[in-house]
Amino acid sequence: MDHFLYRDGQLFAEDVPVSEIAAAVGTPFYVYSTATLTRHFKLFDDALDGLDHLVCFAMKSLSNQAILKVLANAGAGMDVVSGGEYARAKAAGVPGEKIVFSGVGKTVDEMRMALEGGIRQFNVESEPEMIVLDQVAQSLGVVAPITVRVNPDVDAKTHAKIATGKSENKFGIPISRAREVYAMAAKMPGLKVIGIDVHIGSQLTDLAPFEAAYLKVAELTKQLRADGHEITRLDLGGGLGIPYARSNEAPPLPSDYGALIKKCVGDLGVEVEIEPGRLISGNAGLMVSKVIYVKEGEDRKFLIIDGAMNDLIRPAMYEAYHDIVPVVEPAPATEPATYDIVGPVCESGDTFAKSRAMAPVHADDLIAFRSAGAYGAVMASEYNSRPLIPEVLVDKDQFAVIRPRPTYEEMIARDTLPPWL
Ligand code: LLP
Repeated sequence: MDHFLYRDGQLFAEDVPVSEIAAAVGTPFYVYSTATLTRHFKLFDDALDGLDHLVCFAMKSLSNQAILKVLANAGAGMDVVSGGEYARAKAAGVPGEKIVFSGVGKTVDEMRMALEGGIRQFNVESEPEMIVLDQVAQSLGVVAPITVRVNPDVDAKTHAKIATGKSENKFGIPISRAREVYAMAAKMPGLKVIGIDVHIGSQLTDLAPFEAAYLKVAELTKQLRADGHEITRLDLGGGLGIPYARSNEAPPLPSDYGALIKKCVGDLGVEVEIEPGRLISGNAGLMVSKVIYVKEGEDRKFLIIDGAMNDLIRPAMYEAYHDIVPVVEPAPATEPATYDIVGPVCESGDTFAKSRAMAPVHADDLIAFRSAGAYGAVMASEYNSRPLIPEVLVDKDQFAVIRPRPTYEEMIARDTLPPWL
C-alpha cells in the first residue's frame, strides 16, 4: 500500500497535499509517512510471528526522534552503531533492553555508555574489541551480554559499497575461526556469550544469499552448543531490499523472508532478532525539491533543482536510482521529456539522474524523489554551506516539522573563532 499517491491531480503524503507542505516549509525537504513506517515494521513483526523475536530498527537509515518514537510505540527495538545513535534511542524512550549495539569500531566510551544505560547485547566484531569490552564491563562490575558477528563469506550480490559478508570485507570474524573465538569469550569474566550475529549487506533483492548465511549460522549454533556454549539468541541482521525502480525490481516480501528464517533456524529453539532499516524507512519518505531552471545544453536538457548531492547523496555515491515524479499529476498520455536532473553543487557528481524520461516540468514546479526515507536525511551534509534540509512527518491529515531548517545565522554560529582572530 502506497501512502504517496496522486489525488485530484496532486501528489499527497497520506491525506496532506505535498504542495501544502512545500508552501509551509519551503524546498527542499524530506517528508515521511507514519502509516508506511508502522505498516512496514508490522510486516516484519508479523513475518516472525510464532518465533520468540524482536525487530530492531536499523536507525542508521533514519534517526529523527519523531521517527524513533513512532517505531518504538509500535514495539520496535533499535539497532545502534554509535554513542550518538544510542543516545538518540534512549532520548526517544527506547529501553536499554531493546537496544542492540553493532559496529566494528566501538570505543571504550561507547561501551561504558551502553553498559551504564542498559543494553540488550553487544554484537562484537573482533577479538581486540572483545578484550576491551571485557575490561570495561569488569571495571564497572557488570557482565556484558554478547553475540559475536560472524562473517559467513557469502556474496550478497549487491553494490560493492554496501556488501559486508565476504571475507574481504572488514566486518565480523571469519566463521571458520568462530569456535576458537567463542572459546576465548567464554573465559572472560566480563562477558556472557548469548548468541551469534550475522549481517551480509544491504539492498539484497534475492533470498538466496540470506539462506546461505543463515544455514551456516544454524550449523554453527549446533557446533557451539556441542562445545558447551549456551546459544539462546540469533541476530540475523538487516538488508532486505526495496524496489527503487518500480518497473524492473521485485525484491522478496518480508513474509517470504520470515518464512526463510523459520525454515533455516526455526527448530533451534532460539530467540531471533532482525535489524531491518531500509525496508522500514525507505519507501516511507520523499525528498521534495523545486525546479530552479530548465537549461538547454548542446545535446540535452538539464533540470537544475534546488536539492543537491549534499541533501540526498545516494545517486552520487552508489549510482542509486530514485523514481522522480512531478508533484502536479501529469495529464494522461502526456509525452515525456528527457532530462539530466542535477543540483546546484559545484561538481559534476551532483547528478541525480541522466537521460531520465519524465513528464515535462518547468521552472518553479515541484518534483519528488521517491524511496528517499532511508539513508537520505541521515547522510546529508552542509557541503557548499547549504543548511540541512527540514524533515516533516505526516500522520493522516496532519503534518509537523520534526527538524526545522537552520537559518544561515544558526549554521554560522556553530563555528567558533580562536582568541587570536
Ligand atoms: N545491521 C547492520 C549491522 C548494518 O550494517 C546495516 C546497514 C543494517 C543492519 C541495515 O541494513 P538495511 O536493512 O537498511 O539494508 N547508505 C547505504 C546503505 C548502508 C547500509 C549499512 N548497513 C545506502 O544508501 O544504500
